[in-house]
Amino acid sequence: MNKVLAFTVIAIATAVLPLSALAYEKAPTVDNPARAPMGLKLPAQKASPSNNWLQDADSDADRFKKLEIYLRGFDQPMLEVGERYQRLYDAIKDKNWELADYQWDKTKWAINTGLMKRPKRTQNAEGIFLDGIWKQMDQAIKAKDYKQMKKEFMVAREACMACHVAENVAFMNNRPLFRDLRF
Ligand code: HEC
Repeated sequence: MNKVLAFTVIAIATAVLPLSALAYEKAPTVDNPARAPMGLKLPAQKASPSNNWLQDADSDADRFKKLEIYLRGFDQPMLEVGERYQRLYDAIKDKNWELADYQWDKTKWAINTGLMKRPKRTQNAEGIFLDGIWKQMDQAIKAKDYKQMKKEFMVAREACMACHVAENVAFMNNRPLFRDLRF
């Protein structure tokens, strides 16, 4: 009897859950007047702000301005780098070389897209990290050299933190990501 009950509950849950997920796909909005946030310096526009936030701008130039605001600066790529750094650590521990290679390539890509947006950071990023240390780890991964990867992880860790010091954000280093992830 209990088995039947459990089966019925699972059957109902699987039938109902996708429906409810669908219902919330578009979050409901209360019927307040739409207005631009005061926290952003958005270009002035004739149309009142709407969900078509790019289309309701006056010109393509203003659309590009909105995109630049939306795509942020160096913080968002760094958030991704932090995440991928952790995934790299896990991949090395798991001896999953393909995943380590993937994470390390994407780390470089994320930093470079950040540099496209914040070119004053290029000199330190390339000098401290991309030109030498990124490549050393890449070679260790390509060689599937576990011992060397563990060594390079600690070298890369130092370089991450050195760039934070060089870019005047040393406070970024006092966090579990750098404190706890060690070989
Ligand atoms: C250009 C040198 C540079 C290098 C190399 C660098 N960072 Fe950063 N990182 C920064 C700067 C600058 C910030 C602050 C972002 C901002 O002010 O927009 C930052 C911020 C961060 C943050 C905080 C992001 C947030 O918004 O919470 C993390 C996490 C981070 N870095 C991790 C790393 C890791 C891990 C590495 C090495 C794999 C690394 N960084 C390499 C310059 C660098």
